Amino acid sequence: MVDIGAKLWKDGQILDAKEASQVSLLTHTLHYGVGAFEGIRAYQRDDGHTYIFRLREHIVRLFDSCRLATFEPQVSIDQVTEGCLQVLRENGLNAAYLRPLVVLGAGAMGLLPTDNPPQTYVMAWEWGTYLGKDGLDKGIRCKISSFSRLHTNVNMTKGKLTGQYINSVMAKREAQMAGYDEALLLDVNGYVCEGSGENIFIVKGGRLYTPPASASILPGITRDTIMTLAREDGLVVEEAMLTRDQLYLADEVFLVGTAAEVTPVREVDNRPIGCLPSVSPVVGPVTKSLQARYFGLVRGADESHPEWLTRV
Ligand SMILES: Cc1ncc(COP(=O)(O)O)c(C=O)c1O
Repeated sequence: MVDIGAKLWKDGQILDAKEASQVSLLTHTLHYGVGAFEGIRAYQRDDGHTYIFRLREHIVRLFDSCRLATFEPQVSIDQVTEGCLQVLRENGLNAAYLRPLVVLGAGAMGLLPTDNPPQTYVMAWEWGTYLGKDGLDKGIRCKISSFSRLHTNVNMTKGKLTGQYINSVMAKREAQMAGYDEALLLDVNGYVCEGSGENIFIVKGGRLYTPPASASILPGITRDTIMTLAREDGLVVEEAMLTRDQLYLADEVFLVGTAAEVTPVREVDNRPIGCLPSVSPVVGPVTKSLQARYFGLVRGADESHPEWLTRV
């Protein structure tokens, strides 16, 4: 279990985490899953200071998620942004994962949350690599999930909404039970969408491809970061619907996300990526170079995007 530290932020106030974590069993979100959350990382960079990566973009997406689910936090974007900084300072954390969470509290118990107050929290804890250090270095093994990714007419695919994550949890569990590290989800028509908590890229013939924003994907902030860095490095980046066999035939595949950072994929469905089945897969040059740029930015000394860094 992670340790969320002594303090958390709730609707503009720093509170004792133990007390503030006692929530009512009638919390509407507990029953029906209408809540929104974010996952943000803060890193200690080479200059010794702590910076939150793309903080504003994450908080704007939190508010977009709420909007999609037709509720509004009782605090502003600026207040939640400031709350993230306060939680890190109050807990003395130099490198951490931040979890803003908006829930609908106790009130009406039917499906329609008529008088349930939105409550906005920010928690933080220390969190190492999400898919393992070995995964970052050598790549992970993925399985195409038997669960389809959310359909746009069933769920709000652009929202990071709590209840929607049953889909991701089921896919992840299925992949792990079958001995893989991560699940890859296709949409209902068979096009590649994303990992259970990451966006996906493939490299083919020196070009980078990723499913378009109009696919049933979460518009990942790391996805946007990687597309920007790749273009700066002179790579052609195309947003295109991808099929499962394009994955199998890719020169390189990697997953990106705040938690997973930039994680190479070395196998999909037991098929080694980028080489013949008899040859051991290695992490490809494009993945390696983008991974190095990403880490240079978030925790190194790369000063090329100061607008993405908020000093704590
Ligand atoms: C389903 C899903 N896709 C993609 C991502 C990657 O998004 P980001 O890079 O903004 O963390 C996440 C993580 O939040 C996710 O949960």
